[in-house]
Amino acid sequence: MKSKNVIFLLAVSAIFILGLSAYKLAKDPWKVPDTYKNKTNPVKSSSESLEYGQELYDMSCASCHGASGKGDGVKGKKMGIEMYDFTDANFHSKFTDGEIYYQSFIGRYRWHDFRSVIQDEEDRWNVVNYVRSMKK
Ligand code: HEC
Repeated sequence: MKSKNVIFLLAVSAIFILGLSAYKLAKDPWKVPDTYKNKTNPVKSSSESLEYGQELYDMSCASCHGASGKGDGVKGKKMGIEMYDFTDANFHSKFTDGEIYYQSFIGRYRWHDFRSVIQDEEDRWNVVNYVRSMKK
């Protein structure tokens, strides 16, 4: 009887721990308003656009998302919030340019509102183009 109780307890703890880790790994799905989702990117992904985009990304985004976009920036790793890997093709097929614009500059948390950091509309699209170019 006693050992049965121990096994039961172990099973309950295992389920609890598994549940917790699943909870931590589950990323809330993004809900981007249609006005952004359907926005067309007005800036062509030229070498000039990518150059500007990289400069801004390195300055404002790489500390968290990592220089190559894998989500391995020093600050990002400390936050413990799961981030998409910008080199992963799945990320690129999942979201439109407009969604990436929204995620990057408005975000769903107040701390991820970077509209005042990158104010110029064209510059924001340069960054979106650069993020797109990270796809492997
Ligand atoms: C302080 C750290 C930090 C900085 C700086 C930062 N981000 Fe993020 N970013 C995150 C985190 C953490 C998430 C995941 C948040 C979530 O799931 O809502 C995220 C989410 C995103 C997403 C959506 C994909 C995902 O993982 O959910 C994009 C696109 C993005 N960021 C782009 C940018 C761009 C572009 C910049 C620079 C203008 C930037 N971020 C600056 C931490 C940061």
